[in-house]
Amino acid sequence: MFIGKKILVGVTGGIAAYKAAEVISRLRKQHAEVHVAMTKSATEFIAPLTLQSLSANPVHVELFDEPKLWNVEHISLAEYIDAVVVAPATANILTKMAIGLADDFLSTVLLATRAPIFVAPAMNHAMFHHPATQANLTILKDRGIHALGPDTGFQACGTVGDGRMSEPVEIVESLARFFGGKDWLKGKRALVTAGGTREPLDPVRYLGNRSSGRMGYAIAQALQEAGAETVLVSAPTDLATPPGVTRISVQTALEMYDAVLAHFSEVDVVVKAAAVADYRPAVQAEQKIKKDGTSRTLELVPNPDILAELGRKKTSQILVGFAAETENLLTNAQHKMQRKNVNLIVANDVTKPGAGFGSPTNIVSFLFPDGRKIDFPQISKLEVGRHLVREIACLLGVDTKE
Ligand code: PMT
Repeated sequence: MFIGKKILVGVTGGIAAYKAAEVISRLRKQHAEVHVAMTKSATEFIAPLTLQSLSANPVHVELFDEPKLWNVEHISLAEYIDAVVVAPATANILTKMAIGLADDFLSTVLLATRAPIFVAPAMNHAMFHHPATQANLTILKDRGIHALGPDTGFQACGTVGDGRMSEPVEIVESLARFFGGKDWLKGKRALVTAGGTREPLDPVRYLGNRSSGRMGYAIAQALQEAGAETVLVSAPTDLATPPGVTRISVQTALEMYDAVLAHFSEVDVVVKAAAVADYRPAVQAEQKIKKDGTSRTLELVPNPDILAELGRKKTSQILVGFAAETENLLTNAQHKMQRKNVNLIVANDVTKPGAGFGSPTNIVSFLFPDGRKIDFPQISKLEVGRHLVREIACLLGVDTKE
């Protein structure tokens, strides 16, 4: 699984640092090229020489050491590697990663790299459940960083709870799964829509909705990770474009319609995760509308249904729609699947806690025209994206069996 893969193992200062030795050893046994970066405190828990011997490469600790391999070593290593796994990841390194602090070798590589990052948190359970740690983990997961664990059980401090580092075998299996699915969509082109459109009323006001764009951005990242050349047509969001993805920014449903239709004939897959306004104001005032104390009636005209239009026009493309429902989830989603002629619809009940708008997680069911249904528990939006990628690959005839 790891032949030709260059993996950086980051080791930070916790009692679980000794388990990093097993992570490195397992990766090497599966033919990975392993590099190691330790924080200074990690060297208090396990000797760099141990990890150097296991990885068969020099261990990086200091930012300003004599370069061992390259010039400006942290940057060349950041560009060279295929993945980073920080195991154990202390509360301290999670905080640094969340705020982008680069004050030693490992944190600098973590900021500079565009390779996928995995963290295996390990700390006392009170530290793990502290709102600061939880908020940092949410930020990191939102950025597409993969959190592995932690496990629950006996802790070195004598207590029992969440915060034990995941077992090395599980960490290495997660990496193997990640690399195993990577190239399913190589050579394919995908288009994703994300965010909520804004329909202007006047120069300062618009009709909008609660979509943050997180679902669509996570899908774009998952498609890109799977090797697809990915275009993201995005309504306004605060999110960073996933590395390697081309973003086209739009405001309104009509602009989204134009951008999607312009690319439709070139792509193999379209995923419509955006929340598109069904109506727009009939008139957009040129100047700010002034209050005069009277009631107002707003006339709305229908926007084009972009997905339904794609459903009419599609030739060989795989179309994936979303159904955001507040009642009769499955019936309404099935109806949309048929009406819009899609190959798969992702149904989400946006009233459920942990699902729908704004949340970093979602609770979805995939429905297919042949009656198949796959239900998922509450998982991160990126995980939803990765499950979607597998189904898309299957629909395109790719063998996804591991
Ligand atoms: O962005 P987040 O905060 O992460 O939230 C995610 C989400 C809730 C927005 C997402 O999971 C979701 O459900 N997206 C679809 C929202 C929506 O508009 O659903 P709908 O049931 O109204 O539309 C059905 C499908 O038709 C959707 O794929 C939609 O993109 C598409 N559509 C709708 C109207 C329209 N005029 N044109 C369209 O293409």
